[in-house]
Amino acid sequence: MRVVFATSEVSPIAKTGGLGDVCGSLPKVLRKMGHEVAVFMPYYRQARQWFDRNGIVPHQLLPTVVISWANWIAEATFLRATLPGSDVPLILVANDYFFEREQIYARAPDGNDDFLLRYTFFCRAVIRACELLDVAPDILHCHDWHTALLPLYLDSGLRGSPQFARTRSVYTIHNLHYQGAAGADAFELTGLHSRYWAPDALEHFGQLNPMKGAILFADEVTTVSPNYAREIQTREHGAGLDGVLRAVSHKVNGILNGIDVDEWNPATDPLLPAHYDADSLRDKTKAKRALSKEAGFRFSAKRPIVGAVSRLVDQKGFQLLIPVMRRLLHAGARLAILGSGEPELENALVQIASEHPDDCRVWIGFDNALAHRIYGGADMLLMPSMYEPCGLNQMYALRYGTLPVVRLTGGLADTVIPFDGTNGEVANGFGFVAAHPFDLYLATWVAMLNFKDGSVWKTLQANGMACDFSWERSAATYDAVYRRALQS
Ligand code: ADP
Ligand code: GLC
Repeated sequence: MRVVFATSEVSPIAKTGGLGDVCGSLPKVLRKMGHEVAVFMPYYRQARQWFDRNGIVPHQLLPTVVISWANWIAEATFLRATLPGSDVPLILVANDYFFEREQIYARAPDGNDDFLLRYTFFCRAVIRACELLDVAPDILHCHDWHTALLPLYLDSGLRGSPQFARTRSVYTIHNLHYQGAAGADAFELTGLHSRYWAPDALEHFGQLNPMKGAILFADEVTTVSPNYAREIQTREHGAGLDGVLRAVSHKVNGILNGIDVDEWNPATDPLLPAHYDADSLRDKTKAKRALSKEAGFRFSAKRPIVGAVSRLVDQKGFQLLIPVMRRLLHAGARLAILGSGEPELENALVQIASEHPDDCRVWIGFDNALAHRIYGGADMLLMPSMYEPCGLNQMYALRYGTLPVVRLTGGLADTVIPFDGTNGEVANGFGFVAAHPFDLYLATWVAMLNFKDGSVWKTLQANGMACDFSWERSAATYDAVYRRALQS
């Protein structure tokens, strides 16, 4: 099968979260399964810098072309590289006005929010590149709202083009809350016929909603864990689209994300100060020692380091942590938190860290290497998410013998089995249900009590490290979904 991925993020080239991890690793596994895969992403400044740092020069595929749609024209240059560590083609769509910006998701130089325009351009450019390069995808696999217009373009006459005559679309929801919604007047940006401005297409309560359009028009819809697939069909978690999802539930699939087990391997990870596996967990102490030093803590084997690596946005639930942080520190925890996002959350965390420099360290920023050192050096990893489509951090933590303390929602409930004192043969972490600071405190405190019992802790670590989160099983399910899409 010929599969084309269209995505806004690809790890390690340019990412802000798990979307990048998935689109950087799943295509490689599909390739190993025998599919012909190509990945399209915008050529952001961050991507350019990544290639510079790694001494790679992507080569230009074609002379710069003009992409025109609706009332718009913009230039696109297509460059080719490969996904690191593979021969999977990575096609970079360059346009400096849209993508050469301070951050991946930044406003236009004039201060305007042109998010819909830049990703509409990206979608149009992917189509044009396939036509010019004569790539005829069997499956066009789109991810999140940025590429949500592609299934609609396919429906709207693109199948008349020889490259897309047989193409079917698969749309993966990584996060239902980011829908790309915009005012009604933005519809003209899409260049689509007015029949797509309807409640059974892009219109949603008077707004333009790309996420809704993709859910309705893709041949198959997937999301990133079975539990989230169920949750988003309820009013509580449906972000206003639960009715739409229920209406097409026959084509909604929950497929648990995998992780790149080569990149995330404590026995070989070049970003860790010490290496270990399930049989040499003693050496994890070296990683803890190094993290303690880096955080400015005096090393103590007895005091657990509770780590966190996260975008600091409401989704991630740090508003539950902040009210009980001082109490957790008082109870003996040490906190090592890396994240960036909303200023109020950043400021509150930094404030508490400044009051407890010996026990609490907060790094504001995005730092992949430090993230690895936290997964390796911490004893526990906190994820108090309000909702969590899948979550990759808890899987990285489990693989690194670091026990997750999570709110049992979305994919966290599919991957973390909380210890309840009786299920030591399977448990691999700790959990709570109510979105309340006290419940977070209690779950962390229970984890801290169990940390004192070396043999229980080792058992739970071993259970976690034995979990198989490799992509192979999930990739086989994607394969089945692709086949179903082709039959539609
Ligand atoms: P989400 O995609 O919702 O942010 P996931 O758990 O799926 O959540 O993925 C988060 C990914 O982003 C992980 O690879 C994590 O290590 C990474 N990450 C998040 N914040 C940071 C940060 N501040 N520095 C480094 N890596 C981060
Ligand atoms: C989103 C979700 C996260 C998921 C990731 C990759 O960013 O918030 O839970 O793991 O996508 O699918």
